[in-house]
Formats: sequence, C-alpha cells, structure tokens
Amino acid sequence: MSEQVADNRNSAGTIIMVVLAFSTIYAVSRYHIAGPVPWKDFPMLILNKTLSLAAFVLLTMNFGLGPLNYLGVPVSQAWLNARKALGMTGFLLVMLHALMSFLLFGPAAYGKFFMTDGSLTLLAGLSMLFGVLAFVVLWGYNMSFQTFLREDKAFIKFITSRKFMLFALLLGAAHLFFMGYEGWLNPAGWHGGMPPISLVAFSLFAVGYTINLLGRK
Ligand code: HEM
Repeated sequence: MSEQVADNRNSAGTIIMVVLAFSTIYAVSRYHIAGPVPWKDFPMLILNKTLSLAAFVLLTMNFGLGPLNYLGVPVSQAWLNARKALGMTGFLLVMLHALMSFLLFGPAAYGKFFMTDGSLTLLAGLSMLFGVLAFVVLWGYNMSFQTFLREDKAFIKFITSRKFMLFALLLGAAHLFFMGYEGWLNPAGWHGGMPPISLVAFSLFAVGYTINLLGRK
C-alpha cells in the first residue's frame, strides 16, 4: 500500500517553481542589477529571457531524467513521474518565448541581430532558423502524445528514440550557438561576471546531450 502511494508522488509543481525562481533571479541579477538594462524592460525583454531559460531547463529535464536513471544515477520516482508535466510546461513556456520574441523582434531590442540597413546578420538568420525548427519539432513531439498518433506504436517509438531526441536537442543548441558564441568568448563583457543566459542554457544542453547519448537506447 505504502509503495503505491510513493509511486504516485509527483514533484512537478516544486520543480517548476524552483526553475522559474532560479531563472528570474539569474536574469534580474545579470541584466538589471549587475547590467545596465532599465527596469521598464522587465515585463517583455527580461521576462522573455527568464522564460526561455526556464523552458530550456524543464525540457532538458524531460528528456534527460529517464536516461540519467538508466545510467545508474538514482532519480526519485517523484521526479520520474514529473517528466510529462515538465515537458508540457517547457513547451508552453517556449510558446510564450516565441510569441514575446515576435513582438520584440527589431533593432531596438536586438541591435546585434541587425545590419545598418535593417536586414538580419547571417548569425542572427541562422539562430532564428534553428529556433523556429526546434519549435516545430517540439510541437510535433508534444502533439504526437495528444492525438491519434499515440496509437501508432512505430511512430511513438521513433519520436522517443535516441536519434530523434539528439536531433531535437541539436536544433535548440544551434539556436543558442549562433546567437551567442561571440559574447561567450568575451568574459570581460559579462555583466557582474555572470555568463550570458544563452551560454548557461548551452552548457545545460551539453550535459543533457551527453546523458541522452550514453543513457538512451
Ligand atoms: C519560433 C521559435 C523561436 C524564436 C522566434 C526565438 C527567438 C529568440 C530570440 C529573438 C532570442 C534572443 C532573446 C534575447 O536575447 O533577449 C532567443 C533566445 C533564446 N531562445 Fe529562442 N526562439 C525560438 C525558439 C526557441 C526554442 C525552441 C528554445 C528552446 C527551449 C529557445 C530557447 C532560447 C534561449 C534559452 C535563449 C537565450 C536567451 C538569452 O540569451 O537571452 N528558443 N530566442
């Protein structure tokens, strides 16, 4: 009986609150407290960074906790049971991130993405291409569990396969890499010595990718 109760425990709510709190504290400290960004930019510019980081953390946990457990690292049942809610919440946060980015998108918010004639730089173009591709792949991944496709065992096997996960993670990483790597190489320019959010997320990707590479069949 007690085993049954333990099996149903789900830490999703706590994990989501902690991840959101960490992302908010990180973005506010880096951009408002240590950096020069005025507080009036919190509701869109900085919150967008917060939500995109939180989305990345939750999605990495969704993809990574199972393989981590498989590798022999003890992951509690309450965390394993949380994976579905973490994935769904991560996807909803990515949707918010995409919508907020569309509204903000322009030289005023993202000067480094634009040439003087108003067109996109090559790096910004590549970064946005991979962001949109990652979004569509995540959408397909989520949809496959909500629709008649979940009856299709071969399709579900493919969409949860190592090959597909590694591909989806790579798209997200390419979005971050093309947007950020110039800034990553210049630690003197990091506000308060804190690495850019794109680098924090990319480091997490590297951990998640390795875990999936080793721990997913
Ligand atoms: C339609 C799809 C997407 C669009 C248009 C988009 C757009 C953007 C833009 C404009 C930025 C720069 C934000 C800034 O520096 O303030 C950004 C950063 C970021 N994006 Fe996306 N993105 C998309 C999809 C994704 C996906 C699928 C993920 C994965 C979870 C993601 C995660 C991130 C992260 C972690 C950052 C770093 C924030 C920072 O360094 O400030 N994005 N995205």
